[in-house]
Amino acid sequence: MVILKAKPITKDKYELLSSEIRAFGVVPSLTVVMIGNDPAAEYYVQNLVKFGAKIGVEVNLTRFESTISENELILVINELNQNKNVHGIMLQKPLPKHIDENKIVNAITPFKDVDGFHPYNLGNLFLEESNFIPCTPAAVLEILDYYQIATTGKHIVIIGRSNIVGKPLANLFLRKDKTGNATVTICHSKTDNLVSITSQADILVAAIGIPEFVEPEMIKEGAVVIDVGINEIETETGDKIYVGDVAYEACLAKCSAITPVPGGVGSVTTYNLLKNVFVALRLNYA
Ligand SMILES: NC(=O)c1ccc[n+]([C@@H]2O[C@H](COP(=O)([O-])OP(=O)(O)OC[C@H]3O[C@@H](n4cnc5c(N)ncnc54)[C@H](OP(=O)(O)O)[C@@H]3O)[C@@H](O)[C@H]2O)c1
Repeated sequence: MVILKAKPITKDKYELLSSEIRAFGVVPSLTVVMIGNDPAAEYYVQNLVKFGAKIGVEVNLTRFESTISENELILVINELNQNKNVHGIMLQKPLPKHIDENKIVNAITPFKDVDGFHPYNLGNLFLEESNFIPCTPAAVLEILDYYQIATTGKHIVIIGRSNIVGKPLANLFLRKDKTGNATVTICHSKTDNLVSITSQADILVAAIGIPEFVEPEMIKEGAVVIDVGINEIETETGDKIYVGDVAYEACLAKCSAITPVPGGVGSVTTYNLLKNVFVALRLNYA
């Protein structure tokens, strides 16, 4: 049984990225637009700040109350689009219900869209020409690639059909390349007989947002399990901890490899986002 840890992957990548940034001679700058205070979002952003500082990417947080209007938010985005000192813009989700997420994402210039969620970038992802691949799906591929887990010909089941994880990831798994060529099934909350489908997976990806949702009976013996979930829960002693969408301890005996939470997909995602800020800097200098 292999624990698919992020650290061996990100260690070398951070060193390389940091030296490339130094050689370029301009500090890449990311602005994170944060609305309200979601704990999972806070956790992700604090990691961006921490690792950004280590490798020489400036990460600025712009915080707003959840009462901000859609128009006010669009004005903020427009200013960031125009600001030559801002190379990447990240809109931290979830957004309050009165704000149409698509409208705000569409307002971000695709050339600063380090998350890769703008329709221009998602369209190009589909055509295999994107500057920015969404960071979490990219992280899943990088983990499989690093640990030499082949996807060609495999049945990959993804639980979750979000625009930021499930859908782009399914698309990437269909590419005719080393981390693609899979047969992909996507499940969601309306899927009938979920267990009968997940238990056929050679590789099972959980991106649901429900703590420890995936239990051993949902996994085929010897499957690879990729846990995208990051959920804050309170322990019996009142401590706050982060767990994934997979019941990790219970599933260990059933799978051949599994990503930990924390220290798995999320850590590689953080690296990818910071790398994309450098990509954006170079795009905007070209
Ligand atoms: N590691 C990282 O870097 C990273 C990045 C992004 C997100 N995340 C984490 O990944 C998880 C998913 O995020 P997301 O943004 O993709 O979430 P999301 O937009 O809420 O999507 C969740 C998906 O799970 C499906 N689902 C919910 N309940 C289900 C059930 N009982 N059975 C089967 N499917 C069910 C939903 O189905 P419907 O479409 O039918 O509602 C939906 O497609 C969260 O824990 C989030 O914190 C981690």
